[in-house]
Amino acid sequence: MKGLRIGLALTGSYCTYDKAFAALEALAQKYDVTALMSENAYATDTRFGQAAAFVKRLEELTGKPVLHTVAQTEPVGPKELFDVLAVAPCTGNTAAKLAAGITDTAVTMAVKSQLRGGRPVVLAFGSNDGLAASAKNIGELLNRRDIYFVPMYQDDPVKKPRSLVSDYALLEAAILEAHAHRQLEPIFECPK
Ligand SMILES: Cc1cc2nc3c(=O)[nH]c(=O)nc-3n(C[C@H](O)[C@H](O)[C@H](O)COP(=O)(O)O)c2cc1C
Repeated sequence: MKGLRIGLALTGSYCTYDKAFAALEALAQKYDVTALMSENAYATDTRFGQAAAFVKRLEELTGKPVLHTVAQTEPVGPKELFDVLAVAPCTGNTAAKLAAGITDTAVTMAVKSQLRGGRPVVLAFGSNDGLAASAKNIGELLNRRDIYFVPMYQDDPVKKPRSLVSDYALLEAAILEAHAHRQLEPIFECPK
């Protein structure tokens, strides 16, 4: 299965990086993984870590440079670079842009380019407005051809009642289902 070519695109949900990196580490041992980052993810230092350190770790894990500009990700579709493109984590911002057809980041460009050839895209959504401002965008994207979601749940219904996060334990399964053009069910899980 090392032949399966997965693009793994990180956007600026920095608090999710520990889970995303653990999942990526496991994926990189089994599949041919290339990392992509949004411009924000590539350049922003936060209390969750330094951008340069994340880039270095991604390049070590994949053995390839991180794709992080629109010019670098435009060939994703024409050159058929990935069997599946996973955006993990996917911010509310990136989901909103995808829902609106806006293509002004490396990751939104990669998704548009991947979809152009009818190839699958998987979104691991994570944002504290998932059941507020982002809800309509999730609904819009659920109804799009070739877009699939990693199953998600409310991570803290009491303190953050509008927050949704993806279940990274199911990222690989969601990618394999998407490769067969199926959505991994159930899309929504009970709070953990
Ligand atoms: C420390 C920190 C944590 C963040 N976590 C999230 C998050 O979990 N989900 C989200 O949608 N946005 C989050 N954001 C906001 C995004 O980084 C911001 O909307 C950014 O413009 C996203 O750009 P991108 O989608 O192109 O990566 C966070 C920002 C910071 C500084």
